[in-house]
Amino acid sequence: PAAGPAGPRSTWAERWRADLGRLLPDHSVEIWTPASPPAEYAVAWNPPVGFFDQQNALKVLFSAGAGVDALLQHPRLPAGLTIARIEDAGMGDQMVEYCLHEVLRIQRRFDDYRALQQAGEWRELPVVRRGELPVGIFGLGVLGLQVARELAAFGYPVSGYSRSQASHDSIRCFSGDGLREFLGGCRVLVLLAPLTAQTRGFFNAERLAWLAQGASLINVARGPLVVDAALIAALDSGHLAGATLDVFGQEPLPAEHPFWRHPRIRITPHVSALTLADLSARQVAGRIRALERGEKPGGLVDRNKGY
Ligand code: GLV
Repeated sequence: PAAGPAGPRSTWAERWRADLGRLLPDHSVEIWTPASPPAEYAVAWNPPVGFFDQQNALKVLFSAGAGVDALLQHPRLPAGLTIARIEDAGMGDQMVEYCLHEVLRIQRRFDDYRALQQAGEWRELPVVRRGELPVGIFGLGVLGLQVARELAAFGYPVSGYSRSQASHDSIRCFSGDGLREFLGGCRVLVLLAPLTAQTRGFFNAERLAWLAQGASLINVARGPLVVDAALIAALDSGHLAGATLDVFGQEPLPAEHPFWRHPRIRITPHVSALTLADLSARQVAGRIRALERGEKPGGLVDRNKGY
């Protein structure tokens, strides 16, 4: 996401302003207010409803994060406006760390050892080797592919599912009708796909049931990819062993939501990959320079696809 732990939004905006101002000294860089004059470029995450009202000169809107679902749902987003999103800029490494930590926790059975500790019991559990824990990555974009490659290099059997058929060394790639086979082969499923009309509610009861018995889910993409009640039912029935959730349909996750206290759910507050302002500002500045040289910048969003 774009709002980091660095503090309130004003601090965050000031950081972007300072970094972009330094990288683009020949441009004027300002923090938006309702009275701001029309700008040519904007960086935004989840802008207020009136954000575009005076902005009739915008050429490109840069999302301050990897996902653009919130921007695309903005009620007054100008129809033809070009949007670009952050690609990697330090998020890939964070995603790898987060997912590797969770996969290792599952493989080395740290939760079971914790339970044994609580019971005061000294006991060895059977070894699970890396090669015996197949990991599936749903979504092979910039972040999904990096996670897939690094987990494969670490020794896990990795498969990936993407919208169009991909082909990558060391990753078994699925698409289309291969979904059921893909899910059936996962002991750990990592969600790293954008939230679009096609992926909203994708992991419903039926598709969660296609996962192998005892599988675990890691959602570092967007909460609404998964149907909350179906996930809880799959955990309660014992079909799924556990879920690690970094993203939710409503954030912050409401205090009364059952996820908070579910014994098989781990929660982090949308921190699996924070936008790093310095690297992201450098990427945005580079793209503005590319535009001004008449080149096509990276990270352009296809609004029909939704990412
Ligand atoms: C975070 O959720 C992002 O889209 O960058």
